[in-house]
Amino acid sequence: MKNLPKSILFTIVLALFSTSFFLMLYYGKETFYVEKQISSQQLYDYHFALITEEVGNDYWRQIENGAKEEAAKHNVYLEYIGPRKSDNEEKLQTFDRMISSKVDGIITQGMPGERFKALVHKAVERGIEVITVDTDVPQSERQLYVGTDNYKAGFSAGQAVIKDTEGEIKVGAVIGMYDALNQQERLQGFKEAIAESDRIELVDVLESNITEIGAAEATYSLLKQHPQINALVGMSALDGLGIVQGIEEIHLDQTPYVLSFDILPQTLEMIDQGKIAATVTQYPTEMGKQAVNRMVDLQHGRKIEPMQYTGTGIIRAKDINNGEIIRKGEGS
Ligand code: BGC
Repeated sequence: MKNLPKSILFTIVLALFSTSFFLMLYYGKETFYVEKQISSQQLYDYHFALITEEVGNDYWRQIENGAKEEAAKHNVYLEYIGPRKSDNEEKLQTFDRMISSKVDGIITQGMPGERFKALVHKAVERGIEVITVDTDVPQSERQLYVGTDNYKAGFSAGQAVIKDTEGEIKVGAVIGMYDALNQQERLQGFKEAIAESDRIELVDVLESNITEIGAAEATYSLLKQHPQINALVGMSALDGLGIVQGIEEIHLDQTPYVLSFDILPQTLEMIDQGKIAATVTQYPTEMGKQAVNRMVDLQHGRKIEPMQYTGTGIIRAKDINNGEIIRKGEGS
């Protein structure tokens, strides 16, 4: 190096310096650009929590899908959260945790008991909007409810049994959970509808724990304990499927009339196969969509009618083609 002329040495140093300066600028820009991308991804306008009855339940997954679709449109970070197996205690704890983590809005299934109402109060006091979805608690301070009119849905179920059957009918009912408010409302509606007929009697009600296997077991017990039962109604999304399973296990001379709730693909298949006579429709995807949209409205301070019903009706085999509903059911 010592022997190199000064001008060459200077050129080499300059070249090295320019190259490293250029590289620094280039990679510096790349790093900066990536960081910017990440931070803009995390930059949501709102953070909402959707508290489900059971994370893996197909019906709740449809609510989640609807909610996520709308959340994406409004730049909302939507947290879908809840117990693996239905558990009110766990849901209440989750509710409390969401309040502490200062989300902008909580969309939750309504739950029985005073603690739920106290938590809604706590959330509202802290400026967090609350919407009930699927199951309402009108006595709480929730801003609004999005979902089925559960009393009406139960009433339609009763009317369908009257319409579809003849002669003396002894009904066994399978409900999701005894303490679930929507199940109680459906059952009440059902009882009031069948009271209009003197040939239909509700003999017994058992719970399925919102599982198919639970509904199959409940059906088995109902049929064993009350051999006169000739109609079965399932009041939550997987009950109809479990009822069919339970009936198949028992080998009866005469297959009972079956009515179910919800329009999960497997239920429509059972209707197509003639194993379920009719089902009560609910629109969970719509519930998820509307719940998010109304929550966004609330964030903007818009006034909204507190009862946002998503519709319900009765679907029979004639309303289905290739597993798809081709016309809105009776009473929609
Ligand atoms: C009810 C939900 C319940 C689900 C269980 C639906 O019919 O509306 O409250 O979580 O059934 O599968």
